[in-house]
Amino acid sequence: MCGIVGYVGDKNSVPILMGGLKKLEYRGYDSAGLAVFNNGKIEVIREVGNLAHLEKAVAKKEPYGNLGIGHTRWATHGRPTKENAHPHTDCKNGISIVHNGIIENFLELKKNLMGKGHIFRSETDTEVIAHLIEKHYDGDLFKAVQYAVDELEGSFALAAISRDFPDLIVVARKDSPLVIGLGDNEYFVASDIPAVLSHTKNIFILENHEMAKITPRGVWVTNFEGKEVKKDILKVKWSEEAAEKSGYEDFMLKEIYEQPKAIKETMRDKFDRNGQMLFEGMQLGEEDVCKLKKVVIIACGTSYHAGLVAKQAIEHWAKIPVEVDISSEFRYCDPILDENTLAIAITQSGETADTLAGVREAKSKGARVIGITNVLGSTITREADGVVYTHAGPEIGVAATKTLVSQMVALYIFALYLARARNTLSDKKISAITEEIKNLPDQVEKILSGNGVIKKAAKKYANCTNFLFLGRGIGLPVALEGALKLKEISYIHAEGYAAGEMKHGPIALIDDGVPAVVVATKSKVHEKILGNIQEVKARGADIIAVSSFGDTEIEKVVDYVFYIPETTEILSAILAVVPLQLFAYYMAKTRGCNVDQPKNLAKSVTVE
Ligand code: F6R
Repeated sequence: MCGIVGYVGDKNSVPILMGGLKKLEYRGYDSAGLAVFNNGKIEVIREVGNLAHLEKAVAKKEPYGNLGIGHTRWATHGRPTKENAHPHTDCKNGISIVHNGIIENFLELKKNLMGKGHIFRSETDTEVIAHLIEKHYDGDLFKAVQYAVDELEGSFALAAISRDFPDLIVVARKDSPLVIGLGDNEYFVASDIPAVLSHTKNIFILENHEMAKITPRGVWVTNFEGKEVKKDILKVKWSEEAAEKSGYEDFMLKEIYEQPKAIKETMRDKFDRNGQMLFEGMQLGEEDVCKLKKVVIIACGTSYHAGLVAKQAIEHWAKIPVEVDISSEFRYCDPILDENTLAIAITQSGETADTLAGVREAKSKGARVIGITNVLGSTITREADGVVYTHAGPEIGVAATKTLVSQMVALYIFALYLARARNTLSDKKISAITEEIKNLPDQVEKILSGNGVIKKAAKKYANCTNFLFLGRGIGLPVALEGALKLKEISYIHAEGYAAGEMKHGPIALIDDGVPAVVVATKSKVHEKILGNIQEVKARGADIIAVSSFGDTEIEKVVDYVFYIPETTEILSAILAVVPLQLFAYYMAKTRGCNVDQPKNLAKSVTVE
């Protein structure tokens, strides 16, 4: 996830662009840059690191111009270097562009453009857009952008300027956000409303497949086919602070609601055009997969729960034995590994000290290590033999939400990849599961839109001091995660437990009115879990069940039901966890807790 800004008007664009980038820094901050039109030339300044580095360079060079674009980067293709930082330019430095999104067919386009003599200077997918515009440019920037976007596959919000036009920005959008702020003879472009809010509260939201020509005289919007689109002005009422969270009260809630997008973005680079699983950065070919005798997963906290889900997917679909270890234990328990072991280290930050130590331990014993991470350039990307990225975008809330579902979806697809290589599932079965995976974003959307009952239950139980979270099979990691979320943001003691194990001890904790959250979605152990519900109910517990749509019988037995859409049993974990995130969130809010920065916790734990 990156942030883009633009300005055209009668003021110096530089402070406006820098101010906008500051507001967008939450979207990524491994490098930043701007391009400003000045005296018939475009001056480009780019720096690696957060905005402070660009600020220093700008203070030194003092660029000036009434037209400019800017970018803050969160690397997806290509390391965080100066060459890969935006804006990118064409061969003649006549066209500059900034881009947020991922161009999926960039390799093919790049090859083609290089064949026509275009010289590339970065490793990014974005640079192809500058060259494509150059290829189509015959004096009409708008048309050139229109032809260029026609060739692009993937997601993009982009802004382009040309040294031939001192007062023109052309923007286009598909699957990445873009807004235009409307001022008096001046216009602002940004990925997000907060970046323009100190200048104007009147906004055009560009929709998918729309593009615009922006000059100080006005904004002209069309679709990609060139048909004019009349836009309504959105009058923003949010304060600047609320706007940074897109109107949500907290980053955590915003991130919970971003989960359909995070899943979609994570899936995007893991299937090729024919729908076949693709893991390019992983350095593990089909031959290596066939030799595997065992998989060891290492992770901490929420990422460990993603590992528990992955175990079931890999064992069930690819028939490889999987061991899941807590990273801080793994390195001290003399694990048995060899060159036929695949170690998967799951860490959204890529910086967790215990997990990195586990990676070193696994490598020292000859295992091949794959890192699953959300942060390009993080330490794990350098230490693991191969990397699989989730594309959830930066997660600001300390409690992991959208990074978890992204890890799960990446691991599901990876498990299918292993199954195909080992021939343990038929093509038909793989296609059917793939279809179900592709339905997940819409299904999560459905859960998010029906949160009324979750709020009600949170209100009722907010003052309880003890909670039980129970699950069996694929419901167990979900129960563990539900308990962890509740503990960390609402400071309520919550015990996550295997439902069948209750009778061996923890059932003694149950008293009248102790709430038990039970994951009771459709599964092969459904009848068993109904039995467990009866056991705890008989001892006075209140029951909140997470169940599959259509299971109306359960309503007769329990106090509250959080319904989720039906899917393949193993995939149900990704859906069942969502109502429990919302439940923890509303519990914490009702108790007046700071959900984004819970006490004693940190977003990346870089100490042992
Ligand atoms: C819980 C949470 C933590 C992390 C854990 C591992 O909401 O965020 O439990 O999951 O610290 O972090 P990563 O995935 O960065 O290794």
